[in-house]
Amino acid sequence: MSRRFESRPQTADTVQKSDPRRVLLGIGGGIAAYKGPELVRALTARGFEVRCALTAAALEFVAPLALQTMSGHGVRVALFDREEEGQIDHIRLADEADLVVVAPATADLLAKMAGGHADDLLTTLLLATRAPVLVAPAMNVNMWDHPATQANVELLRERGVSFVGPDAGYLACGWEGAGRMSDPAVIAERVEALLAPRTLAGETVLITAGGTREPLDPVRALTNRSSGKMGFAIAAAAARRGAEVVLVAGPTPLPTPDGVKRVDVETALEMHEAVATELASATVFVGAAAVADFRPERRAAHKIKKESLGGSAGDGSLELRLVPNPDILAEVGARSRAEGGARVVVGFAAESRDLRAAARRKLSQKQCDLVVANDISRAEAGFESDSNAVVFVWPDRDDEVLELAPKPAIAGELLDRIEALRRERRR
Ligand code: CTP
Repeated sequence: MSRRFESRPQTADTVQKSDPRRVLLGIGGGIAAYKGPELVRALTARGFEVRCALTAAALEFVAPLALQTMSGHGVRVALFDREEEGQIDHIRLADEADLVVVAPATADLLAKMAGGHADDLLTTLLLATRAPVLVAPAMNVNMWDHPATQANVELLRERGVSFVGPDAGYLACGWEGAGRMSDPAVIAERVEALLAPRTLAGETVLITAGGTREPLDPVRALTNRSSGKMGFAIAAAAARRGAEVVLVAGPTPLPTPDGVKRVDVETALEMHEAVATELASATVFVGAAAVADFRPERRAAHKIKKESLGGSAGDGSLELRLVPNPDILAEVGARSRAEGGARVVVGFAAESRDLRAAARRKLSQKQCDLVVANDISRAEAGFESDSNAVVFVWPDRDDEVLELAPKPAIAGELLDRIEALRRERRR
């Protein structure tokens, strides 16, 4: 059957194609159209094939050649241009898209979409396509707040159209308020999320991430170099795949990924408590945090002053007594086994030597299904880095060595393994 006769409802949740990577970018006639090339770049960087369709007014704000150069494809403007139609007719353009993004969407464009108009190329494509539609509005705050616009938005939402933004801020028209088009990176992230196969729907994934901070006094603390990037990448990817995600995060400035419930903690004891609260509903646990193994036995109520330190030898030195923290992963492993083992438990092992042997020890001591071992002595991998080189260490099969890759890619590989384990257990 030819694709153009395929019937697909216009909601993102129903998209289940194996490799949906074709994005049709519709650009409306607003000042934010100048961000078009940046959005094309953000999308192509994620591996999407992008084709652009502009309204006539958009031509005032963005150069088609810039879009053509960034996308690697010709840019369409006119509905009845013989030359353009000869290359790819507009219905095929609508049919072949896996997702249509309208950015920026002006108030007029929203009204036309709501009213089902088809008086130029972009509105015709929007009426003809059966792909999910994501809209990034941008306009004057009063136009956005106007009941006519809000009613159009409501109607479009009811029809399954997704929205991103508008963000609040200073607007080109001089007003301040909601009306700025969302950042191209944010729009691209939403596109990715809408097109990801929802292979973790029905699962609840509990993740620990980042380092912990163990206070000595109100000013100082013992901590480590973990950035939380790996755990946050896993959380983002799991949410994109449709899982309920709870992210228990140590102190980190990283933004909360879309669709993720974040529980901020500071110390290992707080992380332990948060995990205990959330664990019952989790079908998957991933311990990606660098949990401090020890904490100062006492936390001074006031800043420790140099003058007050006699030191045991009377030499001004300070002795710290550290006591062990609970091992969160080991407890989760033991509890999951005791409950029958349906939950998938994944640990991490950060090692600077004897990587695989140490990871294998942790695998059995903490009763994990899988340990992700990473060599923190490599400069381009591990703590603070955007990439990682890991080995998957299994209890019952050969180790899997993964090449150096960006943390989101490693997260994807890990989730593929987790999904397979959960499938086996559900059977
Ligand atoms: N972990 C944990 N709670 C702790 C310590 C570690 O949940 N108190 C988890 C980490 O999140 C990670 C795994 O255990 O998934 C291994 O952590 P790592 O720091 O590599 O090992 P440790 O068990 O702390 O052992 P060591 O420091 O001796 O290498």
